[in-house]
This record gives sequence, C-alpha cells and structure tokens, in this order.
Amino acid sequence: MMLLVATALAVPAVGITAVWQRQLDAQVDEQLRREADELRRFAGAAREPGTGRPFSDGAALLTAYMSVNLPRRDATLFSIVDGRADRRSPADPPTRLDRDPAVVARLAAVRGTGIGWVDSPAGRVRYGVIPVRVSGDPRDVRLVVLEFRDRQQHQEHRVARMLLGAGAAALVLAGLASWLVAGRVLAPIRLVRKTAERIGEDDLRRRLAVSGSDDVAALAHTFNHMLDRLENAFTTQRRFLDEVAHELRTPITVIRGHLELMDGGAAEQSATRALVVDELDRMGRIVQDLLLLAKAERPDFLTVGSTHLTDLVVDAVAKARALGQRNWRVAHVSEATVLLDGQRVTQALMQLASNAVRHTEDGDLIELGSLVRGDRVLLWVRDTGPGVGPHDRERIFDRFAQAVRPGARDAARTTGIGLGLAIVLEIAQAHGGTARVEDVRTGGARFVMDLPRRTPYVEGDDEPDTHRGGRAKDRRLRRKGPALQRLRDHGRR
Ligand SMILES: Nc1ncnc2c1ncn2[C@@H]1O[C@H](COP(=O)(O)OP(=O)(O)OP(=O)(O)O)[C@@H](O)[C@H]1O
Ligand SMILES: [Mg+2]
Repeated sequence: MMLLVATALAVPAVGITAVWQRQLDAQVDEQLRREADELRRFAGAAREPGTGRPFSDGAALLTAYMSVNLPRRDATLFSIVDGRADRRSPADPPTRLDRDPAVVARLAAVRGTGIGWVDSPAGRVRYGVIPVRVSGDPRDVRLVVLEFRDRQQHQEHRVARMLLGAGAAALVLAGLASWLVAGRVLAPIRLVRKTAERIGEDDLRRRLAVSGSDDVAALAHTFNHMLDRLENAFTTQRRFLDEVAHELRTPITVIRGHLELMDGGAAEQSATRALVVDELDRMGRIVQDLLLLAKAERPDFLTVGSTHLTDLVVDAVAKARALGQRNWRVAHVSEATVLLDGQRVTQALMQLASNAVRHTEDGDLIELGSLVRGDRVLLWVRDTGPGVGPHDRERIFDRFAQAVRPGARDAARTTGIGLGLAIVLEIAQAHGGTARVEDVRTGGARFVMDLPRRTPYVEGDDEPDTHRGGRAKDRRLRRKGPALQRLRDHGRR
C-alpha cells in the first residue's frame, strides 16, 4: 500500500523534472538565438562614439555590445579576436573559460555560427559562437555566449529534491494517518476475532456486544446468530448423547444384574433368559430407530412414487391388526393418487398405530384415515385412549421424550423408548410436511401427518413418472383391484 503511494508520489516528481530539463535545454538554445539577433540589431544601429560612424573595429563593436547587453545569471559573454580571448562581460561567471586556451581554441575553430557543449569545472556549458564581420576590419572576431546549464539545473534539482522531500513527508503522514484510521476501523473486527478465539465448545454462551447499526454491527449480529445456532446444535447433540447412553445403559445393567444372579434352577434360568432376550430386543430396537433417524438426514432417505391413498391406509390397517386386539377401522379415505414414499409413510403409520395400541385396551376403537384438503394430504391415526395433555403435545415429538403421566409412566418406560414420534416427525418433514397431535372432543388422541400434495400426473396422461419406483409401484397398486372393493372386503372382516 505504502509502496503504491510512494510510487504515486515519485512518478510525477520524476516526470516533472524530466519535462523541466527539456524545457530548460530549449530555453538555452532560444537564448543563444536571441543573443545572435540582438547582436545583429546592435551592429546595424551602433555608432563609434568618436566619429559617429558605423564601427570599423569588430573588437570594439563587441566591447560596446557587451557593455550595454548584460547576460543573464549563470551566463557570460566574451569576444575572441584572431583566436585569442579579448574582452568579457562585466559580471563574474562561475568559471573563467575565456582563460582556458583549449576551450578558446576550440571556440575559435567553430565555422560560422555554431552551438555545442563544452565541459568545465562548473559542469556542462552550452556555448554559442557568433562571428562578426565589420567592413574595414579583416580580423576574425567572434562573440561567445556561454550558458552554465548545470548551474541552472542545480536550481531545478533543488526543486525536485523539495518535491520528493515533501512527497516523502506526506507519505509518512499518510501512513501514520491510515495506520490510526485502520486501527480504529479494524478494532471491532479484531474484537470479533478475539471473541471467536475465546469461544470454545464449552463456552458457547459468550456473545459479542453489539452497538450501532453499521456493517461491523451487522457482522457482530450475524456472528451472534451463528453462535445461537451452534450452541443449540451442541446442546441438542449433548442431550441426545446423554439420552442414548442412558437408554443403552439401563438394559445392560438389567442384563448384568440378572446374569450375576443366575445360578438357580431351570425355571429361574428360563425366566432370566426371557428377560435378557427382551432387553436385548429393546437395545436392538433403540439401535435400529437411531439408525433410521440418522438416515433421515440423508438425501436418499425417501423413495418417492405414485401412491393411492386408499390402498395405503387399507394396507396399513391390515398390517396394524397384528399389533393387538382392537376395533380397527378405516375412517375417511381419499381416492387420490399422490407422490410420496409409501413405505416410509406406512412405517410412520405403524409407529402411530403401535402407540395407539399401547394406550388403549382390548376392543377399543383405533381409526386410520386419509384426506386431501386443498394442497395438503392428511393421514391420521385416532384412538380412544387417555389422550395427550396440552403440555406434552409438542414435547413428545422430541427424541426420547415421553408424556408425563403419573402412575402409567413406569409401565410405559419398560416398553417404550421415546423414538417413535421422532421418527414420524422426520418422515413427515422429509416429505416437506409436519406431524402433530390434535384434540379429540370425544376423548383419546388423533395423530396427524400433514404433507404437501404432489400429484404424479394428470389422469389419462402417459407421461412417465420421473420419481424412482413410482410407475412400478402404481402398477402394483392397480393390480390389487379397486380400492373401494377392498374397503368393502375390509368391512366384512
Ligand atoms: N396414542 C397416544 N396416546 C397417548 N399418549 C401417547 C400416544 N402416543 C404417544 N404418546 C405419548 O408420547 C410419548 C412418545 O411416544 P413415542 O412413540 O415417541 O415413544 P414411545 O412410544 O414411548 O417409545 P417407542 O415408540 O420409541 O417405542 C409416549 O411415551 C406417550 O407418553
Ligand atoms: Mg411409540
């Protein structure tokens, strides 16, 4: 940055100096030309003081010229008569070249009017030689004009040095100012960085203090939001792990306890074996459910296809019958074909049905139904059990969460894990929908999966279904025969 500014300052200084030098050279040559013109004019008009006639002595003419025509500073005039320096202008020049025989000889040898360079102790000198011819004077008379160009450049160098000096000072000042300003501007960002460094996994509660409404404040806001999400994610993960550990530890402790005590008779051994198998089943179910929940995060979790809603519900009821002796019924069914993953949705309905069985008695009513309402597809399981209290309605969809029900809690604990509704919710969310439990006026609970309606194709349209397994599944469903006929069959059972 500083290098850039330094270059920006140096380039004009160097450029100005170069232009100036060229101008000076041109000025020197112009000066020499003017001197020649001046001399020509003087020679035409000047008269000898004694006679009042034009000069007949060239040397005297030049002496008279030099007495009235004073050279500029850093310039001098002198005359050469027959190869020898004669007179010079009054002011003292930087160095007396008229006394240098070599220079004088060289100037005396110039043919006609000439311009050139000659070196001197005072640096390079630009000379001009102007021969003078006066009638009646046969001698070789010439006027020499010397411009001490290096002396003049000295001035110029001083200005260039001043320019560069001022530039360097400005550079230092600008650097200092930018350092101070950058320090002030970057201070909040530095604070963000330091806070970020201090925030570890164990200290996610720390937040940045936000003041003002500038970009840095917006950055701090975004950073705080990100920390909120991180903290939330860490807390959920930690809680989840605690719960998994707890759930797995319990069956292990139970198994260990029983195995340690297992030295009784055959009846006791068989009872212990049954218990161990039961606890192992439970552990197996936990692992299986956790795997399913982990898989729900993956993009290939669903295999969506055309699914007839009536077939889906009727099939689900048929499967659910195996769960317990209840009054199983198909409630309202929709004759619509929609796009969804029939297997996963059936899996969710089975979780809901198993919950309904767990919370009802033999012969109690359990209903499954489907309905298309606008652009939503509703699938539900209703039972006539104790229902879910308002405080538990959201909570029970969390992993390992179970409703607080004094008395019934211990019994549920031995069978349930608290992952069923989490799986239902994941399946609904994977479809872009949600799951909830609703109030039933007549008592009991109604668990609803609320999914967006996606239609596979228009009736009669032969467009292939782009979703994996969709067409095959549809054909499979059609082979099963008209859904209403199946409903009637179901009613007869
Ligand atoms: N039909 C229902 N009626 C009353 N309460 C219910 C019903 N279904 C679920 N619940 C309550 O919600 C809790 C969570 O249900 P969820 O299916 O997630 O777990 P679970 O049935 O206890 O165990 P899992 O399904 O993992 O074997 C249950 O423990 C129960 O308290
Ligand atoms: Mg359950």
